[in-house]
Amino acid sequence: MDELRMARTLPVEVPISGASYSAVELADENDRVWMMDQRLLPWQEAYREIRTVERVAEGIRQMVIRGAPAIGIAAAYGMVLAAAACRGDAGDYERVMKQAGDLLRQARPTAVNLGWAVDMVVGTLSQHADLGYEERIRVVAELARRIHEQDVAACKAMGKLGAERIRDGATVLTHCNAGALATGGYGTALGVIRAAREAGKAVHVLADETRPYWQGVRLTAWELHRDGISVEVITDGMAAHHFSQGEIDHVVVGSDRIARNGDVANKIGTYSVACLARMHDRPFFVAAPFSTVDLVCPTGRDIPIEQRESREVTVIGERDYAPIGVMARYPAFDVTPHDLVSAIFTERGVVDPVDERGVMALAGRMG
Ligand code: MRU
Repeated sequence: MDELRMARTLPVEVPISGASYSAVELADENDRVWMMDQRLLPWQEAYREIRTVERVAEGIRQMVIRGAPAIGIAAAYGMVLAAAACRGDAGDYERVMKQAGDLLRQARPTAVNLGWAVDMVVGTLSQHADLGYEERIRVVAELARRIHEQDVAACKAMGKLGAERIRDGATVLTHCNAGALATGGYGTALGVIRAAREAGKAVHVLADETRPYWQGVRLTAWELHRDGISVEVITDGMAAHHFSQGEIDHVVVGSDRIARNGDVANKIGTYSVACLARMHDRPFFVAAPFSTVDLVCPTGRDIPIEQRESREVTVIGERDYAPIGVMARYPAFDVTPHDLVSAIFTERGVVDPVDERGVMALAGRMG
């Protein structure tokens, strides 16, 4: 990626994330996006300056930014850069924006928030037909910032609902990173933990390291430790042992897409954790904004699962750990069937029991 600049601290005066760091922010002038390069964490906190929608899509593809809500917000900001790049008439503008939307949508296939955010922007295009260049940018930027703000508000609302189910003194297992770094700020699963803490409860977190991309050890541990929340890392294979010792009270994870029947797609390895939670009679909770629910998708079998490159599994640092000629499989997500999910926390309310009826009951409700 050939951005012009990197910054060590977030170069935005009032970040929408509400924290001193943020996965993504739009510059006040609406001409640049600042993306924290999450591939550098925990060694380095640095922001990439991105000036084109093509570079936003590349950042999403290459995991500079990741986490379903965060990449949705990044896509909305990418649409602002696309609007800024088009000085043409209304017809030209509509074509450019649709192309930009398609590019962003294709960047990662499982996280439905990506297409949802693009659809939000594309859905407003007809209202821009009579507007001039500056006005079009302003309208898209306002919408994109609103999407970001609403995501933070949604995280806080679901966090509060979820925190009621976390017992004081609990040890909570989480998988991947569903925190401030994966959202507009505050986090979904980690939002529940933050809210439990804010409600005065003591919480200890076990973070699955999350092979092969290490979101747990690099990102979840980074943001919880930074907030002074008690956290220990375990390798993914240790979870069964800790369940068997009675050391885990609840599981809380995020999601990339929830089907209409409540089946949940999340980072590869989540399904094993759900099976362990059932085996050991512990609640398995999911926290996600309603934008993660795909009402068009009937069941988990209909969720597209992103397949990533073999080398992301076999190469650690500079070295390939597989014998020459041996390839790895890497489905980036798996699907947990709804009957293993104890409850889904959203900003609209709690789905419990988790089934199509429960999901549809929230579909008509506002956040
Ligand atoms: O491949 P990633 O890092 O984008 O996967 C992220 C996850 O699986 C998260 O758990 C999910 O997006 C929920 S984020 C609030």
